[in-house]
Amino acid sequence: MAFPAAFIDELIARNPIEDVVGQYVTLKRSGANMFGLCPFHGEKTASFSVAPDKGIYYCFGCHKGGGAINFMMEIEGLTYPDAVRSLAKRAGMEVPEDEQYQSRYRQQERLWALNKEAARFFYSQLYAPAGEKGLRYVQKRGLSKSILTQFGVGYAPDSWNALVDAMRKKGYTDQELKDADLVGEKNGRIYDRFRNRVMFPIIDVRGNVIGFGGRVLDDGTPKYLNTSETIIFNKRKNLFGLNLAKKSKQGYLILVEGNIDVITLHQYGFDCAVASLGTSLTEEHAALLSRYTEEVILTYDGDEAGQRAAKRAIPMLEKVGIRVKVLKMRDAKDPDEFLHKFGPDAFKLLLEESSNRVDYQLTAIASKYDLKDDDQKVRYVQEAAELICTLDSSVKREVYGTRVAEKAGITPEAMKLEVNKAFKRRLNREKKQQEKIDLAPAQALQPKLRSVRYQNMRSAMAEEAIIGKALRQPSLLSAAQGLHSGDFSVPLLGNVFAQLKERYMQGLEVSLGVIADLTAEEMSHIAGIMQRHSEPGGEDAFRDCVQIILREKQVSSVSSDEDLLALRDKMKESKGTKG
Ligand code: CTP
Ligand code: MN
Repeated sequence: MAFPAAFIDELIARNPIEDVVGQYVTLKRSGANMFGLCPFHGEKTASFSVAPDKGIYYCFGCHKGGGAINFMMEIEGLTYPDAVRSLAKRAGMEVPEDEQYQSRYRQQERLWALNKEAARFFYSQLYAPAGEKGLRYVQKRGLSKSILTQFGVGYAPDSWNALVDAMRKKGYTDQELKDADLVGEKNGRIYDRFRNRVMFPIIDVRGNVIGFGGRVLDDGTPKYLNTSETIIFNKRKNLFGLNLAKKSKQGYLILVEGNIDVITLHQYGFDCAVASLGTSLTEEHAALLSRYTEEVILTYDGDEAGQRAAKRAIPMLEKVGIRVKVLKMRDAKDPDEFLHKFGPDAFKLLLEESSNRVDYQLTAIASKYDLKDDDQKVRYVQEAAELICTLDSSVKREVYGTRVAEKAGITPEAMKLEVNKAFKRRLNREKKQQEKIDLAPAQALQPKLRSVRYQNMRSAMAEEAIIGKALRQPSLLSAAQGLHSGDFSVPLLGNVFAQLKERYMQGLEVSLGVIADLTAEEMSHIAGIMQRHSEPGGEDAFRDCVQIILREKQVSSVSSDEDLLALRDKMKESKGTKG
């Protein structure tokens, strides 16, 4: 839904960018701007800037940027409306919502509150006389008091009504208890669903308790009882421990299988561990992870099921741009057991060893071929060589090459030749690709954004300039009367232009921070444009850009090859004069 422009204006005014960012980043003033360490990528020198007068932030390192709303989207992984809501809450403003949303949101808020109360109840029970068994169990598992508190671990007493009674006293209805999946129902009466179990609250990235996993204290079945789907909980979209791990400074996330593995890892200082909630990794999980990290270390159990799970997860993570490493568990079935047996330093070694997944890929390649068949053996060697030639260290190429040679029953020298040949083939391919790029210099000007392609480069550059200049100097927009979003060749830029123009016409504030309905990626792209157009161009330059866009629109029906060639010549020319 769209929020009224006036509401967004007030929201921005009441949430100064330096205050919003200041909740997460320590900022130091330097002239008109403030600087700090970028919260979106690891860095040691401050390249993250905040411009209070413009209401924006921009990182010169990772090029993320935008206004306060966008900052909340990025840092908390929120949708646009939810970021607006969280800022409204911060400023004590009422959000104008439509009715349907209001009732659903109220319902959600009630269930979040109920789950939080339930978590508090379970937590208190762990240390009450009724929880003695539970406490003894978690102690036996080697979990410290402080880590139990950090994760809010609790105990559901061996009773049919302890939770029901406690929650009714707090004013929650039976229907709400049912909606939260905390109770079962028989003959019209509800009863505690979790009994005599250690309770792990599942907390989303915003800190809401959305469900529970309850583990038996012995070998009983089912080992875990989990919250099934509710209006606030979906196990395909959430990860256990991400609420804590997202704050980790490690720069990567460790993905494990079990809740207890996560908690033990955190206890030993590996504060970047998360687990999927008893399901195999989903595409939603991958997307969620990609909001918080660029690298994931898979730590699946050493058994066959674990290996299979890893193999499935790798392509899913790579698809969303995450680098994947695989940690091979040794002499223990999972990280929990490993840490207790060998300690954190040994685990660190495993982490270091996980540096690449070459052996995984080689195994995957080998499994495609029948190595008893000579023909297939040749193809195995060739495909393996393609992989090995991409390794950047000669030692690695040697080690893995020898391994493949052994498997295929050929000499290491023959393998080395194969790898060299594969390397040459790759160089050739790359050269051809480079040639293609040279023929289309426009490629180099394409935005890094995956969702946006510039089809008409000349127009796109003018469109960028219009946006950049208008953001710097909104009054220029009065020279854009004749320009409409439909004239833009890039829909994203057209959309932004329409919003800016509309606001300018209405006398509302025009700035990066007020642009609505963009993804975080798109917003960063716009912030980057603004950064690139920092020179005061003046009205003439602005009018020129308007003319270019309008003219390009007219000729866009004609062949675009000519333009590309002209652009190429022009690029060559300018290169020539420079070099
Ligand atoms: N799981 C589940 N239902 C089960 C078994 C497992 O939902 N019957 C989920 C839980 O989220 C669990 C994860 O799968 O955390 C991994 O299972 P497992 O390794 O068996 O559990 P751990 O939490 O590691 O417990 P333990 O170390 O006691 O075996
Ligand atoms: Mn385990």
